[in-house]
Amino acid sequence: MEEKPNHNSYEMMKYLRDQRVAHLKAALADLYSEAGLAGAERLLLEIGCGHGHWLTAFAEAHPSTHCVGIDLRTHRIHRGQMKRDKRALSHLHFIKAEGREFLDSLPEGIRYDQVFLLFPDPWPKKRHHKKRLVQPGFLSQLAERVTPGGRLYYRTDHEGYFAWTVDHVRDHPDWEIEPKAEWPFEESSYFQEFMESWSSLIAVRGWSAADPGNGDRSSQSTGID
Ligand SMILES: C[S@@+](CC[C@H](N)C(=O)[O-])C[C@H]1O[C@@H](n2cnc3c(N)ncnc32)[C@H](O)[C@@H]1O
Repeated sequence: MEEKPNHNSYEMMKYLRDQRVAHLKAALADLYSEAGLAGAERLLLEIGCGHGHWLTAFAEAHPSTHCVGIDLRTHRIHRGQMKRDKRALSHLHFIKAEGREFLDSLPEGIRYDQVFLLFPDPWPKKRHHKKRLVQPGFLSQLAERVTPGGRLYYRTDHEGYFAWTVDHVRDHPDWEIEPKAEWPFEESSYFQEFMESWSSLIAVRGWSAADPGNGDRSSQSTGID
């Protein structure tokens, strides 16, 4: 067994991250086993799902979509699990996890058709912008886990974070903004209830030469002007 570093340091942070990723890997191997995915036609991920308000409504309306919501906060995940249990939604799961660690822990073949990021923490101060979830590295990591042709759905009330995300997605080689795409499921998230207005962005994960079976798909239109 790996020895635990005994001081508060980079090694300790790395040790703890490795432990979390090891636990997540075991849990996700079960969740995404053949038995776990029985009957699923599509896979969906919501990052930063809060209490699972929006995702529970989505799962109720889409019984053949296997839905997973993740959040950093334990009590929010518990509340999501209670909603799921109350409605007996076996295709809905809530897991306590950090977004990037979760993506690192997924079984090899798992690709999502839809990923939702609803009202992510905006980190409004400039010196905190590096803490925003949307970063070039995160978009690359996400692209590896989204089916070509799959979509990222992003919504925020924060103008600065919206502009930031438009810029980062536009500059990223794996994603293309779809200005005319429609939001697939209008239901308020917990945060949306308190907002007077918000902006939405939908981006499609493009085809790259590295995608298996790419063939002619790299020339398919995404509907983007
Ligand atoms: C502003 S709340 C929005 C919650 C929910 N999406 C909604 O619209 O009601 C942001 C949520 O993202 C979670 N969160 C922040 N950073 C995260 C990360 N890196 N990975 C997973 N969850 C994260 C927070 O714990 C919080 O519950």
